[in-house]
Amino acid sequence: MNAMHPSALHGAVAGAALPHDSAHLHVSGAATYIDDIAELRGTLHAAIGTSERAHARIVSIDLSAVRAAPGVVLVMVAADIPGKNDYGPVIADDPIFATDVVQYYGQSVFAVAAHTVEQARRAAKLARIEYEDLPPILTAPEAVAAGSFVLPTERMQRGNAASAIAVAPHRLRGRLAIGGQDQFYLEGHIAYAIPREDNTMLVHSSTQHPGEVQHQVAHALGVTQKDVVVECRRMGGGFGGKESQPGLFACIAALLARATGKAVKMRVDRDDDMTITGKRHDFVTDYDVGFDAQGRILGVSFVLAGRCGYSADLSGSINDRAMFHSDNCYYLENVDIVSYRCKTNTVSNTAFRGFGGPQGMMGIEYVIDEIARHLDLDPLAVRKINFYGTTERNVTHYQQTIEDNCIAEIVAELEATAGYAKRRAAIREWNRKSPILKRGIALTPVKFGISFTATHLNQAGALVHIYKDGTVQLNHGGTEMGQGLFIKVAQVVAEELQLDIDAVRITGSDTSKVPNASATAASSGTDINGKAAQAAARTIKERLIAFAAERFGVDSTQVVFQRNQVRVGEQTLSFKELVNLAFIARISLSATGFYKTPKIHYDRKTFTGRPFFYFAYGAAVSEVVIDTLTGENRMLRVDILHDVGKSLNPAIDMGQVEGGFIQGVGWLTTEELCWNAKGRLTTHAPSTYKIPVASDVPPEFNVRLLERSINVEDTVYRSKAVGEPPLMLGISVFHALKDAIAAAVGYTVSPRLDAPATAERILHAGVETRERAATAAQTTAAAGVVA
Ligand code: MTE
Ligand code: MOS
Repeated sequence: MNAMHPSALHGAVAGAALPHDSAHLHVSGAATYIDDIAELRGTLHAAIGTSERAHARIVSIDLSAVRAAPGVVLVMVAADIPGKNDYGPVIADDPIFATDVVQYYGQSVFAVAAHTVEQARRAAKLARIEYEDLPPILTAPEAVAAGSFVLPTERMQRGNAASAIAVAPHRLRGRLAIGGQDQFYLEGHIAYAIPREDNTMLVHSSTQHPGEVQHQVAHALGVTQKDVVVECRRMGGGFGGKESQPGLFACIAALLARATGKAVKMRVDRDDDMTITGKRHDFVTDYDVGFDAQGRILGVSFVLAGRCGYSADLSGSINDRAMFHSDNCYYLENVDIVSYRCKTNTVSNTAFRGFGGPQGMMGIEYVIDEIARHLDLDPLAVRKINFYGTTERNVTHYQQTIEDNCIAEIVAELEATAGYAKRRAAIREWNRKSPILKRGIALTPVKFGISFTATHLNQAGALVHIYKDGTVQLNHGGTEMGQGLFIKVAQVVAEELQLDIDAVRITGSDTSKVPNASATAASSGTDINGKAAQAAARTIKERLIAFAAERFGVDSTQVVFQRNQVRVGEQTLSFKELVNLAFIARISLSATGFYKTPKIHYDRKTFTGRPFFYFAYGAAVSEVVIDTLTGENRMLRVDILHDVGKSLNPAIDMGQVEGGFIQGVGWLTTEELCWNAKGRLTTHAPSTYKIPVASDVPPEFNVRLLERSINVEDTVYRSKAVGEPPLMLGISVFHALKDAIAAAVGYTVSPRLDAPATAERILHAGVETRERAATAAQTTAAAGVVA
């Protein structure tokens, strides 16, 4: 294989800024989402009857009115399930239909199949369920106090944090609340189940993990995995929310389809989707840190309380990842991290872009900012002094040696191009003259570990066919959710076979083509599926080379693939001609490919090893302005420098960096989830839950990919994963807002600010900060009098 990077090759496909393969379909409305699939005759529509209590014993369920409602064909409860009443992805604690006890407001209790979706939804509201209320636990701190956990408490330690903190010259303690976040994919959850002959079932599911949906549906139906096929051509966004959650909807659709013998579509509306499905875990993080006069952290301890909701779902790995990312870019010599996996009577929280990493990083970034304000230093200076080194101070708290650390480089470059120091001084000057509006600035870095921390998930398969006309059909275990995985993998295959991208037809994920695939998650979609597809393409290419060499009597080194052509010794054939000859000679033109990420290993018991193949890095500088009378705020300018290694597709990667950043900003500013005292989610629609929109993009938005970057590890064309890491660049906006609040008191005290920093919170933080500043000033004055 050519060692040169493909972007150095003339007309290379890998590395080209090609548009998303479905862009023309997205913008014209021609892309087929599951709800667009032509419905089979007699298709029924499903609705879910949900719990109206956070925690209660079910005394009785009367569904007679539901059954009698117009258009209703079938009503189903747990007892009607032929297989297992469970869709838990890791632990069997997620019933499809609650039986004796309901554990959150919105939990599925029964389902209805009717002729129209309106009929099904109307009927589902007619149930009479009698409850006996049980005391609910709603928040993480309540769960910690009650000892209510979905999984055992975990601890990661290095050195001796307690004694390092005790002897440190300075010490700060505090608590930070970090809000959750709804994935708010534009396409809500949906499944369309089609019963087929001889007890088999086809399910179209909007899922990041078709293989898991296949297994869940098989369990629920009481059949084997060979009897269920799950397909997903694309999702209208997943963001982690379709990693484990689609199982419920797919199981219900399939169960109703099996029971009625009709195709059944299960599509939830937005309100139900938000109420029923899991979100990002909100955290309450307690910290205790000891540091020296330069802001160097000598010892730090974190207690992370993550609200998991009523079941385990993916909470084990998510909270592990929070612990793994509690260092972000900083060397923590003495560190102690305790992680509580809180069981609450709320929706079971699940994956969301970053998968716990963002919550972990928020803790250490908050600590760094607090240290800087305490010592009256530039937070960036404190960040830098704590950075991991490249040859020393480069081992993480889980004993992984960082071999690709480029954060100091990235930050130095960004600091210069964004004019950080100058602007920080100018902002301070501007704030002196502006009594009401205050500006703030912050530069924060990101280091994100790439690989599933559950090692066995780091595997992928692909299937490549070449047809007689020289065109290619590509399939792999990954799923497309808008992130551009399919085009990137197609570019890899086109590059490998030296074909134009148009010669490659991308096909949807399908459990009958590639089995047992991992979820498309942990940002590793391209890394693992790209390598698997490359391997498949290479297998066929090698067959073609051997065939051509023999057929034309040349050495195999004289068979060279060039764009759409193959040179064989002195002559040149079109790719199509060669393929045709190979077909006549009965050479197989189809191959599978397989890949497993090398080098990774780790011991879950001691939390040591190498959970990550490599790290992705980036940094952002954000400048904001706030109105101290209302808390209203906006971004003025954002500069980002992000490392994607050798980009496979800079257009797609830029989209991921920009989109990820904005989604991170939404998490930390406007997206606020509220539950009432009864445990009911009150922010369950766009009217009450505010995601960023196009007009929230900063007016000056300078995003760049780190040039001349190369992955030190042998990833596909030396690229780096890009899906999740940029979300955490949004942390810079949170700290810029904090900086602006501090400006209102002349930077004399540090604001206490929880996330999300909504306008309301900014306003209140401003008031509280001014009160503390006034008290501090009085104390100083009083001390002055005494002296
Ligand atoms: N980008 C878009 N447009 N839509 C999505 O749903 N999901 C994110 C990220 N980028 C998402 C996205 C999440 S949570 C992950 S893990 C990765 O994409 C998954 O895809 P990848 O592994 O191919 O990057
Ligand atoms: Mo992404 S949270 O790993 O689906």
